[in-house]
Amino acid sequence: MSESYPPAISRGSTVSITQQIYRGMREAILSGSLAPGARLSSWQDLASQLGVSRGTVKRAYDLLKDEQLIITRGATGTWVTSSPPSLQTDQVETNTQQPGMFYDFRARPQYFQGGIPAQDEFPLKAWFNAWRKAMTADLSRPMIQPDPRGLYALRQEIAGYLTLARGLSCHADRVFISSGFSSGLFIVLSAMGFHGQKVFVEDPGFPRTRQALRELAITPVPVPVDPFGICVSPNMMNGEAKLAIVTPGQQSPLGMPLAPDRRMDLLNWARQTDAWIIEDDYAGELQLTGRAIPALAGDDHDGRVFHVGSFSKTINPSLRMGYLVVPEHLIGRFSKFVAHLTPAGSLIAQQALQYFIAGGHYLRHLRRMKTLYLARKTLLVSTLREELPPSVRCEFEGGLSVRLFFPAGTDDVAIAERAQLAGFGALPISPWYQGPNPQSGLLLSITNVTERSVAARCRALLRIIQGGI
Ligand SMILES: Cc1ncc(COP(=O)(O)O)c(C=O)c1O
Repeated sequence: MSESYPPAISRGSTVSITQQIYRGMREAILSGSLAPGARLSSWQDLASQLGVSRGTVKRAYDLLKDEQLIITRGATGTWVTSSPPSLQTDQVETNTQQPGMFYDFRARPQYFQGGIPAQDEFPLKAWFNAWRKAMTADLSRPMIQPDPRGLYALRQEIAGYLTLARGLSCHADRVFISSGFSSGLFIVLSAMGFHGQKVFVEDPGFPRTRQALRELAITPVPVPVDPFGICVSPNMMNGEAKLAIVTPGQQSPLGMPLAPDRRMDLLNWARQTDAWIIEDDYAGELQLTGRAIPALAGDDHDGRVFHVGSFSKTINPSLRMGYLVVPEHLIGRFSKFVAHLTPAGSLIAQQALQYFIAGGHYLRHLRRMKTLYLARKTLLVSTLREELPPSVRCEFEGGLSVRLFFPAGTDDVAIAERAQLAGFGALPISPWYQGPNPQSGLLLSITNVTERSVAARCRALLRIIQGGI
């Protein structure tokens, strides 16, 4: 073990012993003297080694855990994470074209970072067992050409899940396994031949979707969003675009569901103008209060809606797995397209996911996450409210984030960049807007907010905000 471990402590210092242990270990990890993946003493052992109370060491470990510098696996032990940042790479590179939109993929997750589930509450044992079973099945299977549409048993599980949990009753033949929302989007745009055309998108709306469209020479046409969701306006009836991409479950980034009359207006628009809808169901059942609003595709009786789901927010974005549900009359066209261009990925991963869902673990996990995320959001909102300056408005209804809105004209991108350098993954809101006069603010994801550090984190972030508004 390295020379700087265990950390030296000084009882006469004005810095608390917890802070001394935390800072010493943090430095040892960031400088590389505690190597990635190195096993650490348990906090109980380190406490007796240093002659301090167990609670003192546990608090230091908790701080390191919050920063994703160490991981603990119950009673089995504590390790340095396998890819901690070095002091040199601690600063996050930002993309100059879309500042704040992409993270440095080598960096650890940051506090308030969006798009990642809770790090500390995943059912690891059930997940591991599903993978072990999948590996065993794979070893006894002859090498085969897998079905490019995806493992049929997984497609059946997903169809069952959608029927039960999302009000979208569909046959497994309509389900295609993708590598997440982005690839589902690509498949629809390409198989339906939208290249070079115009497409309606929500304003504000997910910037990655607009970027994806531009990659295919598609022009995103913004349609305003009000408190009821996308405003299905007479303008949309002029046939300018034959596709709309929407987030009806929880509008991204504002969080509200699409109001019932708007759902009907949108479906009517598609029928009357011979157009199509892509439903981005990125958060699926993770609607935190009440029963989740059913999928729009469940109300589509004309075969006009493509339902695109993802396991990125519910399991892990690094799984790179999602699904696409196509209208029945298009099964043949999509089967041919994916067979030749975008076959489903790893069969072992698909099989593991199928075992996980079939064992009831997915639904159980989602139910637990709904409760956990609601508690985390409540905690964050109540903490923020104590310190929020009057010029900052806090919105928290719907979605997996809390939105902070700044006075008009505030440079939220600059604030987000400064926040990133201080370890915050909060995203600026203005890039979500396409039209003139974007709102200014920050999106704070609630998934990894924890009781022990939320107050200090909020204070630090609010200091950065106050320096920028
Ligand atoms: C609006 C929206 N759509 C889709 C996704 C998921 O994308 P993918 O499945 O490609 O990871 C996210 C994740 O952050 C999202 O916020």
